Amino acid sequence: MSAVIRPATPADAKAMSAIARAAFGEGLEPDPTRLARALSQGLNLVAVSSGRVVGFAGNFLTRSRSGALRFELDLLAVAERARGAGIGAGLVAASVAAAKSSDADMIRALVASQNRAMQRLCRAGGFERDRTRRALYVSDASRGLGAGAAVSFALLKDAHLAPVCTLTYSGIWLEGAISQAAIDEARQRASADDMFRIGAVVPRADARLEALLLSNGFGKAGDFDWWAIRL
Ligand SMILES: CC(C)(COP(=O)(O)OP(=O)(O)OC[C@H]1O[C@@H](n2cnc3c(N)ncnc32)[C@H](O)[C@@H]1OP(=O)(O)O)[C@@H](O)C(=O)NCCC(=O)NCCS
Repeated sequence: MSAVIRPATPADAKAMSAIARAAFGEGLEPDPTRLARALSQGLNLVAVSSGRVVGFAGNFLTRSRSGALRFELDLLAVAERARGAGIGAGLVAASVAAAKSSDADMIRALVASQNRAMQRLCRAGGFERDRTRRALYVSDASRGLGAGAAVSFALLKDAHLAPVCTLTYSGIWLEGAISQAAIDEARQRASADDMFRIGAVVPRADARLEALLLSNGFGKAGDFDWWAIRL
């Protein structure tokens, strides 16, 4: 099966949502305004075969604490009937090309350690796996709210709160030195901006951090790895 890859438009949302639901058990962002915002970021791609959307890549940009621009290959899905024909590889290659023509310093993807198909795609696409093995923790932003006023900037130290507007949710990625103050601040900001998910990717071996996240109502979503290409 051959497919043409092009930028996604709001008109593709229904077909993309059906593919996402089959692949991840969750459709695209249900709020139409937010979905339109995510789709209008211009970096999402669809693969089209015989006039039908058969796969998509959910891409967007974030900034690191030091200001580096990162091209996030956040979601990749191909309809089951179209798999194994190189469409996933085509979407990865097109995402890398889009990243290269952006101002991003790197393209990266967070890949489940069990997801062999995605790992093969990343390796074949020139990505390298980061040596530090990680785990992903997620929390509903509303959990534990009411903890009080926003945290003073000094307490946040080296924590970094990156706002994200993905195809499936709006939220905050907690990065850097994650502390109780950083978690409290992320919740306050998420609540103020009506975002509903907070995520943290932390070294698997960090028992102290795991305990902090679990005690704050985060759940472990699984073992993951960062795969990246420096641009
Ligand atoms: C990952 C995914 C996008 C790949 O799409 P695809 O169109 O089948 O990809 P391609 O045909 O380009 O290549 C798939 C590669 O994975 C391999 N593969 C497929 N299923 C596999 C499996 N279960 N275990 C190991 N490798 C697998 C294929 O052999 C191929 O590798 P090769 O070219 O080295 O032989 C698709 O399987 C999918 O939608 N999965 C569910 C969602 C998902 O896991 N997304 C990634 C994380 S966001």
